[in-house]
Amino acid sequence: MLDSGVGGLTVVKEVMRQLPQEQIIYFGDTARSPYGPRSSDEVRLFTRQIVDYLIQFQPKMIVIACNTATAVALEEIRAYVPVPVVGVIYPGARAALSATKTGYIGVIGTDGTIRSGAYELALKRLSPHVEAVSKACPTFAPLVEKGLFQSSEALGVVRESLEPLRSLPLDTLILGCTHYPFLTDAIQLVMGPDVQLINSAEETAREISTILHDKGELAHSLDTPVHQFFCSGDPEMFQKIARAWLGEQICAVPVVWRMSQIL
Ligand code: DGL
Repeated sequence: MLDSGVGGLTVVKEVMRQLPQEQIIYFGDTARSPYGPRSSDEVRLFTRQIVDYLIQFQPKMIVIACNTATAVALEEIRAYVPVPVVGVIYPGARAALSATKTGYIGVIGTDGTIRSGAYELALKRLSPHVEAVSKACPTFAPLVEKGLFQSSEALGVVRESLEPLRSLPLDTLILGCTHYPFLTDAIQLVMGPDVQLINSAEETAREISTILHDKGELAHSLDTPVHQFFCSGDPEMFQKIARAWLGEQICAVPVVWRMSQIL
């Protein structure tokens, strides 16, 4: 599983819950995070570099637990590796469609994800009658990477960014960035109790489960799997956030990109 940083841990947590026997190898590209403001070419290149790193572990599948990378690199990575590749955008869109009653759905994400129009496309393909309105929230992921997701600063940032959506009659809001579930309390407070927040983790974990089941590859061992976490930036900060979020004493192994790999 991969992400630009700690965001994909929101998917990790749900996979651990639904599929407790599966071993997870996670890569957070914290040295190059955030991906949101980067060009599609950069995000595609970084995603490919991480997949090259992960493939040495011979995974059963790759999960791009990052919306920004899913939006621009999913198809390319599918063609590149010999194992199934799961992204987070279609699962998020499916979850939103089953939650909405009015068909009026909001999407928040990084600049890259919103610019790509990937959620609108997925929603329209799945259900042509829904209406989607989207808004980039570029300040959210950096706040989470700094470990400030429960601060009063976070609430202020969320309030300011979501202000334009508050007057719209949305009944469902897609958290179209895997970092945003860290800010669920603040986002719910600002949007009010009538707006359902959609986090793609649950549906993504279900998709992973279905694929592994259909391929006869679900893990059956009764031993507790030993997960591995790698990050390209400060392992202390990664560990601090991962331990708080997962409630487990995980250790993060630092991976240093060669100079030629860093942009
Ligand atoms: N967690 C990521 C996403 O789902 C990327 C956040 C970022 O690096 O800007 O889009």
